[in-house]
Amino acid sequence: MRTSPGSRILSVGAYRPRTRVGNDAIAALIDSSDEWIRRRSGIESRRRAADDEDLVTMATAAATKALAGAGVAPRDVSAVLLATMSYRSRATTVAPLVAAALGATNAAAMDLGAACAGFPYGLATADALVRSGAADNVVLIGAERMTDIVDDHDRGTAFLFGDGAGAVVVGPSETLGISPVVWGADGAKSDLLRYAETGTLRMAGPEVFRWATAVIPPVAERALEAAGITAADLAAFIPHQANLRITTAAARALCLPPHVRVATDVITNGNTGAASIPLAMAALNGTSGRALLLGFGAGLAYAAQVVELP
Ligand code: UT7
Repeated sequence: MRTSPGSRILSVGAYRPRTRVGNDAIAALIDSSDEWIRRRSGIESRRRAADDEDLVTMATAAATKALAGAGVAPRDVSAVLLATMSYRSRATTVAPLVAAALGATNAAAMDLGAACAGFPYGLATADALVRSGAADNVVLIGAERMTDIVDDHDRGTAFLFGDGAGAVVVGPSETLGISPVVWGADGAKSDLLRYAETGTLRMAGPEVFRWATAVIPPVAERALEAAGITAADLAAFIPHQANLRITTAAARALCLPPHVRVATDVITNGNTGAASIPLAMAALNGTSGRALLLGFGAGLAYAAQVVELP
């Protein structure tokens, strides 16, 4: 086993479903309006997966792009990790299906369940696997088909969520391309965001909003400290794309200097759960340097780390 001083993100790939759905189509079902949805969430539209765009096809498409970007052959992948909260089956997991579709025949494959914090949780896992020598190249995917678990008639969630998949390849590095993770979970509050008996998602929106805006600044500060940098050293801030108001409040609390690009993918893609951070990273294409990633959501779980952008 060859240990490595560090690991880094080699590449990022995205898959966004073909169909864009505007606010008006959703507002009609929940006695809402385009104006209310924009004002309260910043969302203008989101992607909805068609029948042929299932979790496996979306995740495989994103991972295929990431592997091509990294120049890594599928047979050289040691592990496929897939973060999702929208796969209904527990008997099978998605990652083995995606590994098979990729041709990653030498890879371990498992799903990660940390909801909207799943991507940074997965990145911490991938980093540890690579540094310990247990893996060479890890494919980490965040993929969601929220359409399957959101009730179109639920006023608190119907307008919020979208579908898609984002993937990165993590490989060995001489330097620390992925800084130490700061993470945790507050299970005592898990009732605030959970599956109802109907099998669809229910969220106490204002309470989750308050929890998120309270937890983000200290967790972000600790992640910067763990990386040995300050906000001024960042090129980008990529929080989970839950609500534009949460992102704006977090950026303000962190006193980010004007040169720091703040991810706002939520505006056109909605909240894509575990896929939102890699999708937002792909949308910041062309930005290089360090980015602060921060995921938060059901659990209630959170995780943050500083990464060197690919
Ligand atoms: O990804 C995992 C983590 N998730 C999050 O971080 C999401 C956190 N929560 C949120 O983003 C926000 O709570 C929402 C966007 C979901 C809702 O925004 P809000 O500003 O918290 O709205 P609210 O639930 O406090 O409702 C405000 C008002 C209420 O009316 P009154 O009592 O002020 O008269 C609601 O009845 O808006 C009403 N309302 C709506 N009106 C039109 C609630 N839902 C809707 C709706 N359309 N869909």
